Amino acid sequence: MTGQDEARFIQKQGGASATAWIESEMERLRRASLERSPYLVEAIDGGEIVMGGQNLLLAASNNYLGLAYDERVMQAAAEAALRWGAGSGASPLVSGYSKLQRELEAGLAAFKGYEDCVVFSSGYLANVGTITSLVGKGDAVFSDELNHASIIDGCRLSGAEIRKFRHSDIEHLESLARSGGYRRGLVVTDGIFSMDGDSADLCGIAEVAAKYGLMTMVDEAHATGVVGPEGRGTVAAAGLEGAIDVVMGTLSKALGSAGGFVCARSDVVGWIRNRARSFIFDTAPAPATLAAASKALEIAILEEWRRERIASLRSQIVKALERIGVALPRLEAAIVPLVIGDASAALEAAKALRELGVFAPAIRPPSVPEGTSRIRVTLMATFDDSQRDRIVRALAEVARRFICRSATVGATDR
Ligand SMILES: Cc1ncc(COP(=O)(O)O)c(C=O)c1O
Repeated sequence: MTGQDEARFIQKQGGASATAWIESEMERLRRASLERSPYLVEAIDGGEIVMGGQNLLLAASNNYLGLAYDERVMQAAAEAALRWGAGSGASPLVSGYSKLQRELEAGLAAFKGYEDCVVFSSGYLANVGTITSLVGKGDAVFSDELNHASIIDGCRLSGAEIRKFRHSDIEHLESLARSGGYRRGLVVTDGIFSMDGDSADLCGIAEVAAKYGLMTMVDEAHATGVVGPEGRGTVAAAGLEGAIDVVMGTLSKALGSAGGFVCARSDVVGWIRNRARSFIFDTAPAPATLAAASKALEIAILEEWRRERIASLRSQIVKALERIGVALPRLEAAIVPLVIGDASAALEAAKALRELGVFAPAIRPPSVPEGTSRIRVTLMATFDDSQRDRIVRALAEVARRFICRSATVGATDR
């Protein structure tokens, strides 16, 4: 038998049947309305996209400040690519660490009010790398039950005991901390919760952490650029710079680029650079993404009107929804959740929204807890009044038809 014949023979014997379970598992997801596939964007122009040949208003992007399509940001990316190349070529600890990365790190550290900063190639990797650097076997990690999946994965990968506290429930956090039985402890929370748009009780967390000697980490993915003075985030808004040990954020949302970052004291950042496997064993971000993020940061700090516009869009949408009886949590960023409940109903609601010319997909488990599937609407500072009116009209219509007032936000084993 030739090598090729042998391969064909092996495939016939077992290759196909060994993966047959996937089809039945996929069928199970389909039946539960939980199958997912990416939506193909055929064209994009700021807040408008073409999808399946249809023009739609984009109400599902985390490009909150509209900087991903800002000419100055795009120009900075193009110039960096032409000068520094398309890729960084190596991990940061080999030869991939450029002046562009160092300048961005220094800018982010100053922006967040911390001594130093380390940039990762994504926010996901920043969370996983940081948590696994700070805690391990014998330690405990105290994690809000609605934290982002990248935090959950970091907690799981760390090997520390995971003590999940009820959403923003400081008494529950304290009771878990009080029971002891761990060497080191880390409290980790989203600053703005990605699927609910509400904010963490950072003062409560800082108090418990100080009382029990716990480290603290806040994920500012959805707050950076949007919340707080100059968009410096929820930690700055609460006046807790320095009191919170580690502030993480992404470059992929309001800063319109890609990558993640972690700000902390220099010794902590140095430790993360030495221990975070997702930093050490990952190619450094591309020059264009670094330069774009630096330019976007500069603009985000200066152009306060973008945050003001988000706040005004948000309050108008919230008021319109409240008028028809839809109660929302206290929102501070650019996320407006419309909880529908059932996954299949959320899919129907997203379809109805799309028929009305607005794109915001159904968010279903495991992204949100069971029974709280929703439409997650996100706002962009660059929406004009007519775009705002289109969103308000479409959302009000969908809310009237689909809203399940009994749905409550709860926890699940995410
Ligand atoms: C709260 C939160 N943290 C981290 C991340 C991961 O960031 P990135 O998309 O840059 O990997 C996200 C992304 O959705 C997020 O919502």
